[in-house]
Amino acid sequence: TALTVITGLFAYLMGSILFAPVICRLWRLPDPRALGSGNPGATNVYRAGGWLPALLTLVLDAIKGAIPVWLGLWLQLSPVALAIVALCAVTGHMLPLFARFQGGKGVATALGAGLALAPMTTVILAGLWGLILWRWHISSLASVAAAAAGPIVSALLEPDALPLFGLLTLLILVRHRDNLIRLAQRREPPV
Ligand code: G3P
Repeated sequence: TALTVITGLFAYLMGSILFAPVICRLWRLPDPRALGSGNPGATNVYRAGGWLPALLTLVLDAIKGAIPVWLGLWLQLSPVALAIVALCAVTGHMLPLFARFQGGKGVATALGAGLALAPMTTVILAGLWGLILWRWHISSLASVAAAAAGPIVSALLEPDALPLFGLLTLLILVRHRDNLIRLAQRREPPV
């Protein structure tokens, strides 16, 4: 309980570190919040500077989601507490303390937390994400499809993680509202 609160707080603070603007500054690229979709995430870093800084953003935003979960596992927190920690990390990325609560869409951070907590489900979802990106070249389409599939895949492979994936899916879809509208209008640009 006290450990859960402390680990959850740590997770929120970790999530609050947006690596997209950090990487873009290091690469001397424009701030991703000022170009493309305006989203501080790996996809928009790709638009700003190509695959290498984008990959690094993806990996770092994922690791910041995994670290608090690893800490919680090490502290032997309960499954419910671990799910809360994962959600705190993703919420930190979406509503970051260090960026006036103007955050990202949570896909990479959910990937990292998911890999640490429910690896089978998460690997399948990551594969689905990659497949859709490869086929249609639209990052948000891959993200919303993988998010939508989350509860189904988890129900089949790791049912204990179903509540977590249900909530992650909800959060991620809500953050993709503008993307969903553009996708429905067939106006979402390929990357
Ligand atoms: O994870 C973000 C991705 O799904 C969409 O990013 O920049 O195209 O809105 P963006």
